[in-house]
Amino acid sequence: MKQQNIILTGFMGTGKSTFGKRLAYRLEYRFIDTDTEIEKRAGKSVAEIFRESGEAAFRKMEQELSEELSKQTGLVIATGGGLVMNPDNVTTLQSSGIMICLSASAEDILERVSRQPGTRPLLQEAEPLKKIKVMLKQREPIYSQFNQVCTSGKDRDQIMHDLLQLALSAQSNSTTP
Ligand code: S3P
Repeated sequence: MKQQNIILTGFMGTGKSTFGKRLAYRLEYRFIDTDTEIEKRAGKSVAEIFRESGEAAFRKMEQELSEELSKQTGLVIATGGGLVMNPDNVTTLQSSGIMICLSASAEDILERVSRQPGTRPLLQEAEPLKKIKVMLKQREPIYSQFNQVCTSGKDRDQIMHDLLQLALSAQSNSTTP
């Protein structure tokens, strides 16, 4: 059986990287975080890319990376939260596996991203909670099309259990030889 990729998406601070790493370990897949990979290749942080080259340049890097990763198998991919706003990226990545969207409350998101100050250029606002709520509303139609796992109000074991259930059922439903 081909090892279908597991693609974790969702808003910033919903736990994509944290749980993506754990999931990859459990499945014996390779873990890739698109932000980290882009930073490695560009030799600068996402915040620097936004500042020096602009958001459009970053989105182009995300698109190129999505195309590249969709040609590989056996990956758990944690996407940047905005990557799936480009429908081409969704089509491309979906062709390689199953998409799962992580969600969390706006308050939890703020608390989590505040632990890494300056890393989220789109949330550098006087009222970040307000911005998070606005962005969540804007993005809801996109995020809601995927399988959902909520990471608020649950312990880590429960979240891992939910993720594994989805990932394994997708693998067993797959007819890809
Ligand atoms: C973004 C999310 C970030 C990063 C960039 C833009 C977004 O990734 O790609 O700051 O548009 O939601 P995380 O979701 O990993 O924080």
